Amino acid sequence: MTRTVTVALADRSYDILIGTGLLERAGAHVAALLRRPRLAVVTDEHVAAAQLPAFLAACKQEGIACETLILPPGEATKNFTQLERLSRWLIGQQVGRDDMVVALGGGVIGDLTGFAAAILRRGTGFIQVPTTLLAQVDSSVGGKTAINTPEGKNLIGAFHQPALVLADTDTLDTLPPREVLAGYAEIVKYGLLGDRPFFEWLEQHGEKVIAGDDAARAEAVARSCQAKADIVAADERENDQRALLNLGHTFGHALEAEGGYDGRLLHGEAVAIGMVQALEFSVRLGLCPGQDAVRARRHLARVGLPVDPADRGLGDVPADRLVAHMAQDKKVRDGRLTFVLARGIGDAFITRDVAASELVSFLKTERT
Ligand code: NAD
Ligand code: GLY
Repeated sequence: MTRTVTVALADRSYDILIGTGLLERAGAHVAALLRRPRLAVVTDEHVAAAQLPAFLAACKQEGIACETLILPPGEATKNFTQLERLSRWLIGQQVGRDDMVVALGGGVIGDLTGFAAAILRRGTGFIQVPTTLLAQVDSSVGGKTAINTPEGKNLIGAFHQPALVLADTDTLDTLPPREVLAGYAEIVKYGLLGDRPFFEWLEQHGEKVIAGDDAARAEAVARSCQAKADIVAADERENDQRALLNLGHTFGHALEAEGGYDGRLLHGEAVAIGMVQALEFSVRLGLCPGQDAVRARRHLARVGLPVDPADRGLGDVPADRLVAHMAQDKKVRDGRLTFVLARGIGDAFITRDVAASELVSFLKTERT
C-alpha cells in the first residue's frame, strides 16, 4: 500500500508518496511531471551502488532518458566546490527551467541538489527520492536546501520546494544500521515535540521500525511526514512554529561543531543527545515533569542511540565552549538565547528568553 501525505502550499503543493516498491515504479510516478522524457539524476557513490540501477531501469521502462552525476558520499560534499561542479554539469546537460532534477540519496544529496535546482536558471524543478531514514522523515520534506561553509552548517541556502517526494522504504534495506538509528532519532523528535500518542506508539513499535518491518516503517515515516507537512504548511519560512522542528538541535549542533563533523557523531545522534538535554534543561527550569525526561532518555537509550555527550567521547567539552557554539548558531539578544523547550512529552514550545548563565550552570552540573 502506498500512503500519500500532501504538503499544502497553494500552487507549490506536492505529494510525498510513502511505501514499498516505489523505486521500481518511479518512472510512472515522475512521468506526469515531465515536459520532455528526460531527467538529470544526482546521487552519491554509495547510493549509486545500492539503488541507482533500479531507479534507472524504472525510468527506462517509461521511455525516460536519464543522465547521472555521481558525487562523493558524506557531509563534505555539501560545499561550494561540489555546488559549482553540479551546477555546471546541469548547465552542460542543458537542463532547463521546465525540466526536473532528481536528488536520489540522503540529506546531503537532497540539500545540495535542491539548492542547485533553486539557483539554476533562477529556479528549476526537482524531485526528492530520499534513501535514508533521516531524509525520508525530515530533510526531503519542507524545501530547506543548503550547503555548508567553513563558518558553519547550512549557512548558504534557499527555500525551494520539490515537486514530488518518493519515499520508498525498501531503499532503507541497504542503509547501514547506524544511519537507520540516526534517522530514528528524528522520528522520535515528532513525538516529543507535539504528539505524545505517537511517542507512546514508538515505545511499543520503535524496535520494529528500526528492524525494518514494512508496516511499522511506513507508519512511522507517514506520521513523521504528516507532522512535518502540517508545520511547513503553517509556517514555510520558519517565522514561528517551524522552529519547533529544531528540538534538540541547539544542544546537538554545538556537539556536532565540537566533534568537527568527523563522523564521530552523526546528525541524528547529536539530535538524540540534544533532545534529552532539552528535556532535562526544561526539568531544571521547573517547566517539565522529571519523569518525562527520564522516559525520553530511556526510550532513546533502549534502541541504542547515544543520550549523553560522553557516549560519543564528548563528555569533557567545557560548558562555555558549548554555549559559544550555541551563540553562533542561534540569535543571542542581551545574553538571552532562543531555545525549544518542553512542558512534557508532546508539548514543546519556543522561548526567546533563556539566560546564557542558566544554560552554563545546567551544562556544568549535568556532568558532575
Ligand atoms: P547522508 O546523505 O550523508 O547519508 C548517510 C550515508 O548513507 C551516506 O554515506 C550515504 O552515501 C549513505 N546512503 C544513503 N542512502 C543509502 C542507502 N539506501 N543504502 C546505503 N547507503 C546509503 O546523510 P543523511 O543523514 O541522510 O542527511 C544528513 C544531512 O541532511 C545533513 O547535511 C543535514 O544538514 C541535512 N538535513 C537537512 C534537513 C532539511 O530540512 N533540509 C533536515 C535534516 C537534516
Ligand atoms: N529540519 C528542520 C526544518 O526542516 O525546518
